[in-house]
Amino acid sequence: MPLIAFLSRRSMLAAGAAALLAASAAQAQETVKIGLILPMTGPFASTGRQIEAAAKLYIAQNGDTVAGKKIQLLLQDDGGVADQTKRIAQEMIVNQKVAFLAGFGLTPLAFAVAPLSTQAKVPTVVMAAATSSITEKSPYILRTSFTLPQATVPLADWAAKNNIKTVVTVVADYGPGIDAENAFKTRFAAAGGQVTEAIRVPIANPDFAPFLQRVKDAKPNAVFVFVPSGVGSAFMKQFKERGLAEAGIRLIGTGDVTDDDILNNMGEVALGTITTHHYSAAHDSPENKAFVSAFKAASKDMRPNFMAVGGYDGIALIYQALKATNGATGGDALLAAMKTAKWMSPRGPIAIDPQTRDIVQNIYFREVKSVGGELYNVEFGAAEAVKDPGKSPTN
Ligand code: DHB
Repeated sequence: MPLIAFLSRRSMLAAGAAALLAASAAQAQETVKIGLILPMTGPFASTGRQIEAAAKLYIAQNGDTVAGKKIQLLLQDDGGVADQTKRIAQEMIVNQKVAFLAGFGLTPLAFAVAPLSTQAKVPTVVMAAATSSITEKSPYILRTSFTLPQATVPLADWAAKNNIKTVVTVVADYGPGIDAENAFKTRFAAAGGQVTEAIRVPIANPDFAPFLQRVKDAKPNAVFVFVPSGVGSAFMKQFKERGLAEAGIRLIGTGDVTDDDILNNMGEVALGTITTHHYSAAHDSPENKAFVSAFKAASKDMRPNFMAVGGYDGIALIYQALKATNGATGGDALLAAMKTAKWMSPRGPIAIDPQTRDIVQNIYFREVKSVGGELYNVEFGAAEAVKDPGKSPTN
């Protein structure tokens, strides 16, 4: 080959490679990646399933381009194991260059990622985990789920006003359970009630029978329960088998125990349970009716639960931030936009508290009722625009 031809071929190749590189850089710039880390397997897989379906629904409804940027959702399963969450988050930050991290099905998984969010300045949207102190673990964490003190305080007030004088608390023995126990105890005592015994049970697959026998023997007016999403059915089964209702012991709790994902299969033992929470599939608003029917249509008739709405609103928060920055990424600009977000969710009006980066929302009073042959948490009132009253050191 003549030298001149060789040179021009080489420079053509070089030019081609440079063009390719430039094109892929432009493409990288045009794509905004959201790293969604969820438990898709293991005992808390229903949380992952609900959030995935809701996040995808939001994107399907609102398009996958925001402010000229293509949105790419990268979903990875952490199995509910904190070491996995951390490893995946690290990989997503370093190799995938995600603009956002999101998900976090359980408190320890959010705690594991917080130092990485701070170091890399990556806005991190907690869509599920609900221990109060999570948002204090990194200035880059925001939350679209709820906190246990937020959901619990209105219930303590309700109990005191409804002839309940003595309560035994039964909570899952980790962050959110301890938050719920403390919030209930303190608020109920301030309202003149008394927690006579505080029982903590293991987080996954607990055998409730011996604990509920203890409750039955203590004969309180009511038992207050917090168990994480998915565990409520096992609790209800034992509540029925131990005959607590027959012994005149009422059942109250945060809405995690009557989770919409499993409520309809609990049977009539669930009827009459009073709970407080931020979301019910039966919430009566045009936004929620549209959400529930679109969710069911997209997800083989699965009923959305409170995890789903956390996922849906988490993506809504990310979209709003990108619109506000006109598509610019970079953690601090996005974070500033997210801190003042305020919008209408299927659950009702919500906002991010700029001071705490936590969610401000209505907490609804609900009773399990049969509606059209199906069990629902039917709302009968609300405490409005509740901020997280927690932020007490539980972990
Ligand atoms: C948490 C998990 C849940 O499934 C739930 O319902 C509430 C809190 C948590 O780990 O923070």
